[in-house]
Amino acid sequence: MESTRSLPIGVFDSGIGGLTVLKALAEVLPQESFLYLGDTARLPYGTKSPKSVTRYALQTTRLLVERGVKVLVIACNTATAVSLQALQEAYPQMPVIGVIRPGAQAACRASTTGRIGVIATESTVNGGSYNEEILRIHPTAQVFSRPCPLFVSLAEEGWCEGEVVELVAKQYLHSFVQDTGIDTLVLGCTHFPVLARAIGQVVGPRIALVDSAHTTAQFVYELLRKDDLGSRDQRRTLSFLATDGAERFARVGGVFMNSCLESKDIEIVDL
Ligand code: DGL
Repeated sequence: MESTRSLPIGVFDSGIGGLTVLKALAEVLPQESFLYLGDTARLPYGTKSPKSVTRYALQTTRLLVERGVKVLVIACNTATAVSLQALQEAYPQMPVIGVIRPGAQAACRASTTGRIGVIATESTVNGGSYNEEILRIHPTAQVFSRPCPLFVSLAEEGWCEGEVVELVAKQYLHSFVQDTGIDTLVLGCTHFPVLARAIGQVVGPRIALVDSAHTTAQFVYELLRKDDLGSRDQRRTLSFLATDGAERFARVGGVFMNSCLESKDIEIVDL
């Protein structure tokens, strides 16, 4: 048991977007070590078929499990929407946590009118998991979804603000917000929180923006406590793996983590 407790928590995403979740996890769980894998060679997942995303998710998870992790956090809405069940079935002994249920919980808490918008990748929107999870918690809610795939490219480019971001945000969201009358907008892709300022400017201050990072971190905190899996080590490590582009991962990932990453600290792996 002691050896399991000191294992890191595995976290994966299609790229660097999941670092927004890692950042929240690292804040809420200061004693835990983390092993993060960004499948940068195959990003984006959001435009791929469910079959491909599940194949990728199983491969990334296998590598993390081979390295040794005690819990897996799928820091990707697309992979959660499409592959959560397959991963839970493939690894029944290991807790596998997705980001959609925590995101839905955060949205239901924030909304007073029950009119909730969800922006995400095409696959996440098509999978309908946010609708399901929100309606499970709040059966009379009305959920309106909008795919915003270009936000992923902007975030991966490290373009978080400026003219281009504002134009894209306006194009995606201006009429969406007016037509639906939502009071809450879920950033249903782990890449989107870095664009929150620009998105907030377009949708206006009356709409609450929520993402799943902190609620997921809280969920993992409770899980470690309940299953007595919390690390007792005094020093923790944050390790980064990627399937391509160490320099780019470090440069843009530093923006996501709000800290300095160096390319020598990113190990390139083959799945
Ligand atoms: N970060 C991923 C998500 O949360 C999506 C980005 C992609 O399309 O790969 O859905």
